[in-house]
Formats: sequence, structure tokens, C-alpha cells
Amino acid sequence: MPAILEAHDLTKRFALGSTEVEALRGVSLEVQAGEFLALMGPSGSGKSTLLQLLGGLDRPTTGSVVFEGRDISRLSDDEATRLRRERTGFVFQAFNLIPLLNVRENIALPFTIAGNDGNRGEYRDRVREVIALVELNGKENNRPDQLSQGEQQRVAVARAVVTRPSVLLADEPTGNLDYTTGGEILDALWRTCEQSAQTIVLVTHDARAAAYADRVLVIRDGRIREEITLGRRADHSAAPLIARLAQIGL
Ligand SMILES: Nc1ncnc2c1ncn2[C@@H]1O[C@H](COP(=O)(O)OP(=O)(O)O)[C@@H](O)[C@H]1O
Ligand SMILES: [Mg+2]
Repeated sequence: MPAILEAHDLTKRFALGSTEVEALRGVSLEVQAGEFLALMGPSGSGKSTLLQLLGGLDRPTTGSVVFEGRDISRLSDDEATRLRRERTGFVFQAFNLIPLLNVRENIALPFTIAGNDGNRGEYRDRVREVIALVELNGKENNRPDQLSQGEQQRVAVARAVVTRPSVLLADEPTGNLDYTTGGEILDALWRTCEQSAQTIVLVTHDARAAAYADRVLVIRDGRIREEITLGRRADHSAAPLIARLAQIGL
């Protein structure tokens, strides 16, 4: 099966005053449909930059990104915006919920923005479906300030997958959360992958989070240093990943 998402020899340089920062130094990867991939590395290694390029939020300096068979690295701004709205879902460290909207309305927001009524027909069914997926039944009418941090981030996950994107891109979604709450989010991501065959790319500095993935790419200084295949495992134990990282001195 062809990959759903491919990066070919990506580099990204940022101008910083009179100097330049080389955030990515030649990254190539493939993501298969239905796969849960983690990009793991320390702070400053280039993870967020890579995720932004993969999701069409930014363009590479050189190299290309092929998404569903189409080179997206040279899209116009309008085309890139449409692609992000229709084919990708994003979750960030900050929940970015709208305070005045309740859970159902926040989740239906992508439909509202597209001019559709999230309270009707298929849209309403999909909102219900993702509310169940992230286990927020009974909280549909709560506003964000009436939810725990973990519940708020689960709303963000539901909002990101309600449009059935080809790929869900998550950048440190557990970064602001304590251990237990972080686990809730990872479990919710895992369910979208298992139950809806959602393709996921998760960026994290945390081995425990990366251990939910089928495969882990370890990034250091803008390069992929290691690929670790964990396979699909229901227990999410981080021990095999940590052992492997220790073995190769990472
Ligand atoms: N917009 C930017 N302007 C200048 N430098 C940037 C910008 N974005 C990222 N960088 C730099 O690129 C490198 C990689 O950053 P980033 O991708 O955010 O790493 P990570 O997400 O792994 O912490 C860092 O040195 C960072 O300071
Ligand atoms: Mg980052």
C-alpha cells in the first residue's frame, strides 16, 4: 500500500537576526494509512518544525512533502488552508477551545466554519460519535471552564477528528498535563487509531507517550537518528522503547 504521507529530504532554515538556525537537516519518512507514528526527541530537536511541514502549516526550505499522492510543499496559501481544514486534524499543547461554546459546539466548530449545521443529520451523528470516542458523554453542555484539563484536551482531540481527517497531527498534546491526565489523552488518541483507523503522528519528548505508537522515529539536531518499531500493543508499556533507547545511547 502506498504511504499516506511522505517527507523527502526536508530541510528548514530560519533566519535569526544575522544568523541562521538549521531546524531540519534532511529528513525523510513515510507514514502508512492507519499507522500511529511518534516523533520523539529533546526540546529544540526540530519536532514541531517537522510536524508543521507535514501538516502544510509551513513550507520547507528544500525537499518536499507528499500527502495522499500530492506534493503539498509548494501549495498556494488558499490551497494549503483548504487542505488543513479538509484533510488534516491538529492537536496542540494548548487546548484552544472557545470559552463561550459548550463541548458539543466546540467539537462541531469545523462544521460551523465550513457553513454546515453541526446539530443536524450526519454532522450531529459524527459529533455524537466522537463525544463517545473521547468518553465525554454527559458533558455535552459543559463549557470549557466547567471541565477538567484532561476533559478540555479530549474536546480538542474530538474536534480534530470529527471531520475524519486523513491524518491527525498532535504536538505535545500531554505537555501541560500531569501523568494521569496525560494518560487519558493518550488513551483517547489510541482509541481513535484502534476504533476509527485514524492515522496519527504524535510529537513528544516523553518515552511514555511515544510508547503508544506502532513506530517511533527519534530526532536529534534536525535529523532522524533512529527508527524503533514497537508494533501495535494494547498495554503501551514504555519498557521496550526505553531499553532500546538505552542500548543505542539515546
Ligand atoms: N520560527 C522560528 N524562527 C527561528 N527559529 C526557530 C523557529 N522555529 C523553530 N526554530 C528553531 O528551530 C529549532 C527546532 O525547533 P522546534 O522544531 O520547535 O523543536 P522542538 O519542537 O523539537 O522543541 C530550534 O533551535 C528552534 O529555536
Ligand atoms: Mg516543539
